[in-house]
Parts: sequence; C-alpha cells; structure tokens
Amino acid sequence: MQIRPFSFSPADYQTYAAVRRAAHPESPLDLAGLEHLDRTRAQSDVLARFVVEVGGEAVGVLEYATPYYDPRPGVLEVQYYLHPRYQALERALWPFLLERVAPHQPQMLQASVREDWPQYSFLTAQGFAEVERRWVSVLDLAHFDPTPLARPLPPGLTIQPLSALPWQEEAFQRDLYALEIELLGDVPSAQPITPWPFELWQERTFQDPNLLPDGFFLALEGAHLVGLTMLFKSHRPQTLQTGLTGVRQSHRRRGLALALKLRAAEFARAYGARYIRTSNHQTNRPMLAINEALGFVKEPATVLLRLSPAPQKPGQSGSQ
Ligand SMILES: CC(C)(COP(=O)(O)OP(=O)(O)OC[C@H]1O[C@@H](n2cnc3c(N)ncnc32)[C@H](O)[C@@H]1OP(=O)(O)O)[C@@H](O)C(=O)NCCC(=O)NCCS
Repeated sequence: MQIRPFSFSPADYQTYAAVRRAAHPESPLDLAGLEHLDRTRAQSDVLARFVVEVGGEAVGVLEYATPYYDPRPGVLEVQYYLHPRYQALERALWPFLLERVAPHQPQMLQASVREDWPQYSFLTAQGFAEVERRWVSVLDLAHFDPTPLARPLPPGLTIQPLSALPWQEEAFQRDLYALEIELLGDVPSAQPITPWPFELWQERTFQDPNLLPDGFFLALEGAHLVGLTMLFKSHRPQTLQTGLTGVRQSHRRRGLALALKLRAAEFARAYGARYIRTSNHQTNRPMLAINEALGFVKEPATVLLRLSPAPQKPGQSGSQ
C-alpha cells in the first residue's frame, strides 16, 4: 500500500469520484460541489487529502479537514472511502491519520457516515460516539399528488423565487443571510451550528455551481423575508437537492413551510426532475412531519460521530 498526497488536479478529482463510486455506489461524489468547497476554503482551514494506492491502482481516499458545515474551532472532520476489496486497509490507515492529525492538536475528531457503511463499525470501535442522526429522504415526483395538501397562502404573504428578487444586491443578500442565520439557529441540532461569516456565505451561496435562482424560494410579507426553501442541482440523475427550509417563529403554523415545499416540488417537475432529496435531523419532528405528509421516503440514517479528545500517544512525534 502507498499513500500519496491528493494533487487537486482534474485527474485526481476523477480518481476521488471513481473510488467513491466503488466504495458507495448508492452515494456518488458531488464532484462540482467538492471542487467549489475546496476552492472556497479559508487560508486558516486545515485540508489534507491523500490517495491510497495498491500496485499503482487507486483504491482509497483519506482526508482530514476543518468541517465544511459547522466549522467549529478545534474540530477536524475525518473521512475515508475504500474500495470494498480493500476495506481492511482502514486498520493501517488509522495510525497514519492519527499521526498526521496530532500536530493540529484537535480537541475533537468528527466523522459523518451512513449507519450501514463499514466505517461506522470501524470508527465506533476506535472510540467514536454517536452525536446525532439525520435521515436522507427522497420524494418520487412520478407518484406525487400535491392536490390534497394545497391551501391558499395566508393573506399578505407571497412566495417568490430568488430570480424575481434583487439577489445580486448586497442589501438583499444581507437580509437573506440574516434570515438563514436565524433559521439555522432554530434547527434542532445537537449543538448550535457555527454559521459561515457573511463574505464566505456570499461566495459559497452565489457562486455555488449547483445554485438554481429559479428553484430557491422565499416567503415574503411585503418586502420582509419570513421563510425559505431551496432546491439545488444534483450530481444524481433526475434529482434536485433540498437545502435549508425554514420559517421565522413569528410566522409558523400558518402553512408557509408546506406551501414553500409544494412550490419547490412544482418547480422540480417543470425542471424535469423526478426525485427531490432532503436531509433532516431525526429530532426535527416539525420538518419530518411535513416531509412525511409530502411522501418523502427515508434512507438509512447518516450518523455524526465524535471522538474527544483526539488520542495522542505519548512521545508521538507529530511530524507532518
Ligand atoms: C419546520 C418548519 C420549517 C415548519 O414551518 P411552518 O411554516 O411552521 O410549518 P407549516 O405551518 O407549513 O406546517 C405544516 C404542518 O406540518 C406539521 N408541523 C409543523 N410544525 C410542527 C410542530 N412544531 N410540531 C408538530 N407538527 C408540526 C403540522 O402537521 C402542520 O400542519 P398544522 O399546522 O395544520 O397542524 C419551522 O418549524 C422551522 O423553521 N423550524 C426551524 C428550521 C428547521 O428546523 N428547518 C428544517 C431543517 S432543514
């Protein structure tokens, strides 16, 4: 086995995609999304990625990095994907990873893995503990009838796509940022989410290759933003991916989230997509209730695992 640094070349991104396809055909790599993420990393972010080769053939990818979502200080996210024939290499990769991570002195390592992936058993055997679970779920628009769920919007409220709003103006972007920060604070995650600073959010949002300004919907009361849902292009065939959905507390239980999701489903159909995917915390009963009513079908859970503190053997050199 050889481990070499990932070169961030187009060829290595293709290598990454091929490894991921072999490791988890049900969960292919969002190549455009990953390249966008890598391009928008802050100078201060940690990002180390390696390709694992056997006999000159790439059989795995391994990385540790500042988490993309929720970039909490002192936390590093680890990920690895191995061709199923080489899954046992994780035992050899683990000490390599720990040695590389040690100089960063993380207070915590985290990993996000599906409950049915082998990484789940391996990482829990290394002492990682479950923090929270999310369900990815999928709506098949071929069997979706919105009619029984449709209601008139409450008076004074409208739903408009981003494309009909001044979304390239900074004043509007700041209002949207404020809305997203407020709503992220209400998502029932195990710990409060650390939001991106405005400039990073602006770059990641509006330069996202998957952004669909016609599929990103805002609920407004006059010009005041009160809720949103958003669909993004997906690397999966015939699919759109849901981002954040939320409604300000002052406007909840008036059917706005449901109306936003119905509007998004209508867009997805017109766009020619068959599937809408979404991901929700298992504790998010309100959002799950809406998605269940719409007919979203759940996949195995994705589990956030954490190891704290990161184990460091005495006398470990910590050399890079
Ligand atoms: C989840 C959320 C978007 C719901 O917004 P909303 O506009 O209040 O939802 P709706 O009024 O459209 O609710 C439609 C139905 O969903 C169910 N529902 C909504 N909120 C619920 C709650 N708190 N408890 C139980 N069921 C709920 C009900 O069946 C409701 O119909 P009803 O009011 O006639 O009983 C809102 O609570 C929110 O913004 N939460 C914080 C952000 C978040 O967690 N977003 C999801 C992460 S992606």
